[in-house]
Amino acid sequence: MADMSFEPLEGACFGARVRNVTLTDLDEKAFRTLYDHWLDAGLLVVGGQFLGRDDQIAFAKRFGDLEFEMAEIGNMRKDGTLRPDDGSDDMMKVNRGNMGWHHDSTYMPVQAKGAVFSAEIVPDEGGATGFADMRAAYDALDEVTRAKIENLRAHHSLYHSQAKVGHDAKPVKDASVNTDDTATDQKGKTYGGYGFHDGPVSVRPLVKVHPETGYRNLIIGRHAYDIIGMSSEESEKLLQELVDFACQPPRVYHHQWEPGDVVIWDNRRLMHQATPWNFKQARRMWHSRIAGDPETEAAMAA
Ligand SMILES: [Fe+2]
Repeated sequence: MADMSFEPLEGACFGARVRNVTLTDLDEKAFRTLYDHWLDAGLLVVGGQFLGRDDQIAFAKRFGDLEFEMAEIGNMRKDGTLRPDDGSDDMMKVNRGNMGWHHDSTYMPVQAKGAVFSAEIVPDEGGATGFADMRAAYDALDEVTRAKIENLRAHHSLYHSQAKVGHDAKPVKDASVNTDDTATDQKGKTYGGYGFHDGPVSVRPLVKVHPETGYRNLIIGRHAYDIIGMSSEESEKLLQELVDFACQPPRVYHHQWEPGDVVIWDNRRLMHQATPWNFKQARRMWHSRIAGDPETEAAMAA
């Protein structure tokens, strides 16, 4: 078999497609090569893997401890029926919310390091996942904006971001991701209220130095609001302007999925977004979330 190779993603200033690789079969040296390319590129796209549950979890653990092992993302219940998009299903509300650009778990006490995300069932069209490079976005800012935001901090909350899409969520006492793939779930509770905690609201800098690369990255997106020292309106305007500027070519890439695809993204650098598909068609994706290092990814005191 030819050696593992990395090709830049077309049209984007970040990301790489990995070829000639079997993710379940990497020795330590090959994994280190993959990891170094991941840090360089921010996003790796790998086709034809068809990872099983245990294999995906084991592979994700090579990147670090997991925030959660495996969450199903999509519009299917465990029994294969489709969730209604009529405002009655919490998972569909989370799907809607995830169409806004975001970093994962900025609303938690510790922001995620990254994710391994795979496709099992995909619709005929639509349902791409978008990625945007917040390192390149920071680099592209003018000096005045950079100086303005250098020491700013924003609140991050899933209540806030979901309320913006009409999801009035309440704290969930036993909030967790249901990773039991044999569970019968008829109530739209697969996501289990993950992120709807009643702990303190996380506060994060808008500009953050990446703990492994040393580059500055914007930390913005749909969970961010109420920059400290600004009015809500002023804060909303600035945050929206930053997202609008940041998420433009060549800093964006939308991945159109094939079954068996796996992507691995660096959540300390990239934002991502879901995109619509025909909800009459099934989509089943699997998300393993890599935990951030509390030394570097913890929220700040307000
Ligand atoms: Fe996400």
